[in-house]
Amino acid sequence: MPRDEIRVEPLTPTIGAVVEGVDLTRPLDDDTFAAINRAWMDHLVLFFRDQAMTPEQHLALGRRFGELHIHPAAPYAGGDPALMVIHADADSHRVNGERWHSDVSADEEPPMGSILHLHRVPSRGGDTCWSNMYEAYEALSPAMQAFLDPLTARHVANYEGYYGAHPPQREPPRAVHPVVRTHPVTGRKALYVNEGFTRRIVEISRRESRACLDFLFDHVQDVNFQCRFQWQANSVAMWDNRCTQHMAVWDYYPETRSGIRVTIKGDRPFR
Ligand code: SIN
Repeated sequence: MPRDEIRVEPLTPTIGAVVEGVDLTRPLDDDTFAAINRAWMDHLVLFFRDQAMTPEQHLALGRRFGELHIHPAAPYAGGDPALMVIHADADSHRVNGERWHSDVSADEEPPMGSILHLHRVPSRGGDTCWSNMYEAYEALSPAMQAFLDPLTARHVANYEGYYGAHPPQREPPRAVHPVVRTHPVTGRKALYVNEGFTRRIVEISRRESRACLDFLFDHVQDVNFQCRFQWQANSVAMWDNRCTQHMAVWDYYPETRSGIRVTIKGDRPFR
């Protein structure tokens, strides 16, 4: 499909856009790829409807954006660890992404992006919310920004209770990253601490770190930085983990919500 048929409709002034006129089941030509990439950098999270992708097409889409990341512990589909299963039903005790997070930020080189395709959605609910970490940083006072800018934080993965008897792909990762990172493409600064993985700010005392992280975890959830997406079967969301956080709302128990995530490798965060 030629590039001029692509329409990008912002979901909020701050974050998220719905993209129409693109068929993700087919290889993206260079113009379409460039247009999607531009929209991605501008809106941080892109949404597509009615994309009946096969797992192979989903993998090909992910590979168009970079090498694929393997989740440390999640179950995968079709014998391919790059096809991470996102699934919740009446037997689930926990769900993926129920707390605000940036995907696997505990990796030394955390994923730059994720592409989620839902095949089955509950009759209502099961939305996902994303929050803009550029805005979260820019909303802080200059004094707070100056305090946070030089700091680093320890991120630790803990998947206990999430994946049942499924054997992990590797040890749960841990890493130290800047509290504020610079996006390698846009050059903008983004807050990079999240409730899912960040445990401790390294340069200050444990008590100071706790108070500071509590404040920041609350701050990143400000609705002014957010968008919320209502899924349909065959919706696709692709998000930039370097400048967003997300959380999946589990309000549909005992119904089933199911899909596949393909995740794209990223670089080591820098200041
Ligand atoms: C995740 O990848 O964190 C899960 C997102 C979702 O299920 O909406």
